Amino acid sequence: MKIVVIQGPNLNMLGVREQHIYGPMKLEDIHAQMKNFAEQNGVEIEFFQSNLEGEIVDKIQECLGDADGIIINPAAYSHTSIAIRDALSAVEIPAIEVHLSNIHAREDFRKKSITAEVSAGVIAGMGPFGYHLAMVGMIQIMQEIKAMQDAQQEQEA
Ligand code: DQA
Repeated sequence: MKIVVIQGPNLNMLGVREQHIYGPMKLEDIHAQMKNFAEQNGVEIEFFQSNLEGEIVDKIQECLGDADGIIINPAAYSHTSIAIRDALSAVEIPAIEVHLSNIHAREDFRKKSITAEVSAGVIAGMGPFGYHLAMVGMIQIMQEIKAMQDAQQEQEA
């Protein structure tokens, strides 16, 4: 089972950027924790960060036939990108959207996420721990899908 983690614009600046909102942790440290947890659970994991909308669309498309689950923080594109939303919808791979901050408690323009509407679940406001929660949720979803597929195969045999 493989999870691809996709991080949107300005998340490469975590640890420097608006620490009062996003905290002091760097993206590579968040990813190191996720990698540890993935290893403990026998799950393959890949990380990708881009500041460019098209590159994020490309990465989502590349997940087709490669990933069983996507954990994504589209960052500002959550509020604007129909292209990222359509890509998530097109690949039909379960996705969990993560926001470090509670987007519902911030400016009005952040309260709506158009990408969340095509995600299996959303975690917001839990800081870096939200990525851990997303992994727990994604492993559960992937196991449920695999169990369903195994049962179907057994029926067909
Ligand atoms: C964010 C919230 C977005 O509104 C913002 O544009 C970000 C980060 C978060 O993780 O809280 O860049 O996605």
